[in-house]
Amino acid sequence: MESAGAMDSIEQVKRRIAAARHVTVLTGAGISADSGIPTFRGEDGLWRDFRAEDLATPEAFARDPKLVWEWYDWRRGIIASKSPNPGHRALAGLEKKVPGFTLITQNVDGFHALAGSRDPIELHGNIWKVRCTRCGEVSINRDVPIPIPPHCETGEPACGGLLRPHIVWFGEALFESDIQASMGALQACDLMLVVGTSGVVWPAASFAPVARSAGAYVVEVNPNPSALSDQVDQVLQGRASEVLPRLL
Ligand code: OAD
Repeated sequence: MESAGAMDSIEQVKRRIAAARHVTVLTGAGISADSGIPTFRGEDGLWRDFRAEDLATPEAFARDPKLVWEWYDWRRGIIASKSPNPGHRALAGLEKKVPGFTLITQNVDGFHALAGSRDPIELHGNIWKVRCTRCGEVSINRDVPIPIPPHCETGEPACGGLLRPHIVWFGEALFESDIQASMGALQACDLMLVVGTSGVVWPAASFAPVARSAGAYVVEVNPNPSALSDQVDQVLQGRASEVLPRLL
């Protein structure tokens, strides 16, 4: 049974959405948790004994590309067997209802686009894209399993360079165009939703404070307290796949 306070909060955010001219949303692994994808810092976040910070780095890839590819291959296998949930679909629906809308995701699973969101900013890249460490070519690769390690087949004769995931790793800079587009949307929005992120990885962790100091009303959707919870205007405590559909 839901408390009257929680109902009020949902109603209040619904009213704000109805009045908003630009809504910006930041999502993290939590929105895909209800699709069955493990979060990074949740109970199932470890692969073998490694944390994401041990594998998602250029140093880890230079040291042991096969190990890093085994981790991505495992994740690609899980993602390929799952699909977007009502939380992803609610955001795709919200986009159609408000005049201005920007979706920024830290997730690399591609589920927002699959659910119908147009042009989400994929801040950390996409797990179905690979990039050649020799010729720089970016291409889509949906092989599951992928040959480990995979090599570039671009050109005649084939380039043969080692492929890496087209993912922004710890210690690497985000793509400049994504930062520009995100900053513009954070400055422009009057309402921001922060969904399913622990708020500990930068620069995404700074996005809610940036939007808030630019005047936006910031709402967090998360079943647990996060590093951002005390920096937002409203916390809607709950799972993204339950809370987001109710906001529409
Ligand atoms: P985390 O794993 O750090 O945090 C997941 C968040 O989702 C936590 O705050 C959970 O409480 C919340 N959560 C769990 N279930 C949820 C549900 N059903 N609905 C809503 N929220 C739920 O994931 P991120 O914050 O996305 O980067 O992590 C940020 C980055 O760190 C990732 O993009 C990844 C990782 O290392 C790279 O790999 C480069």
